[in-house]
Amino acid sequence: MINPKIGKLMVFKQPSELAQFAAQHIICLAKEAIEHQDRCTLVLAGGTTPKAVYELLADHFSKEIEWNKVFLFLGDERFVPNDHKDSTYLMVKNSLLNRITIPAKNIFPVPTFASSVDEAARLYNSTIVEFFGNSTPKFDLVLLGMGPDGHTASLFPTSPTLISKNLVAAETNSPKPPLQRITLTYRAFNGADNIVFMITGADKAHTLREVLGARQDFHRLPAQGIRPHDERLLWLVDKEAASQLD
Ligand code: 6PG
Repeated sequence: MINPKIGKLMVFKQPSELAQFAAQHIICLAKEAIEHQDRCTLVLAGGTTPKAVYELLADHFSKEIEWNKVFLFLGDERFVPNDHKDSTYLMVKNSLLNRITIPAKNIFPVPTFASSVDEAARLYNSTIVEFFGNSTPKFDLVLLGMGPDGHTASLFPTSPTLISKNLVAAETNSPKPPLQRITLTYRAFNGADNIVFMITGADKAHTLREVLGARQDFHRLPAQGIRPHDERLLWLVDKEAASQLD
C-alpha cells in the first residue's frame, strides 16, 4: 500500500515520456520561483535517468527560461576530477551546460579539486552557506534519482552520512563505485520547496514498493528520509519501476 504521506506519484509508459514531463515541470517550477523571488535555485541529480531530462531542457525548452536567474547546484558528486568520465559535473556539462547560455557564476560544481573528499564536502558546505547567507538553505527545486538499494544522491544504506548534521557530507565507502563521494544531506534536501524523484527501470521495482510503503526505516532505505516540510514531493516513475506497486 502506498503511504499517503509520501507526496504525489505519476507513472509513465516510457522513460521518454517521463523525461518530457519532468523537463516541462522543471520549467514551470523555475518560472514560478523566478516570478516570486527573481531567481531559482535548482539542485541537479546524477545517474543516468536525468540525462535525457537535461538534454530536453537544453534542446527544447531552453528559450522558455531566464538562465541568468537560475543557480545550479549538484545533489551529489563522485570524488573524481571534473573532466573524469565518472564525474556528474561532466555529465551535466555535456547534457545541459554546453547547450545553454548561463553565466559561469550561476553554476556551483562540487570542488573535487580539493585535497580530500572531506575537504571537498567542507568547501561545498561553505559554498551553500555563503550563497544562502545562512545555514538553513531553501532550494526551490531538488531533483533526485534512486538506486536499486534505495539510495538517493550519495546517501547509502547504513552510512554515517544519513545522520550528518552538516549540509554536505563525505561518503568514503560507497557501495556504488566510485568509493568516495560528496553528498548533500537530509538537512540540505528537506528544506527545499519542491523535490522531484525520477526513477526508471525494473531493477528498482521491489525497492520502490518498499520505499513507498508504510514501514519507514531511512537507514535501510535512504530515499525514505527525503521529506520536504509540506510534502511537496513528486515521484515520477516509469511503468517498469512501478510494476510492483498496487
Ligand atoms: C550517482 C547518483 C545516484 C543516482 C541513482 C540512480 O552518482 O549515480 O547520484 O544517486 O541518482 O543511483 O541512478 P540511475 O538514474 O542511473 O539509475
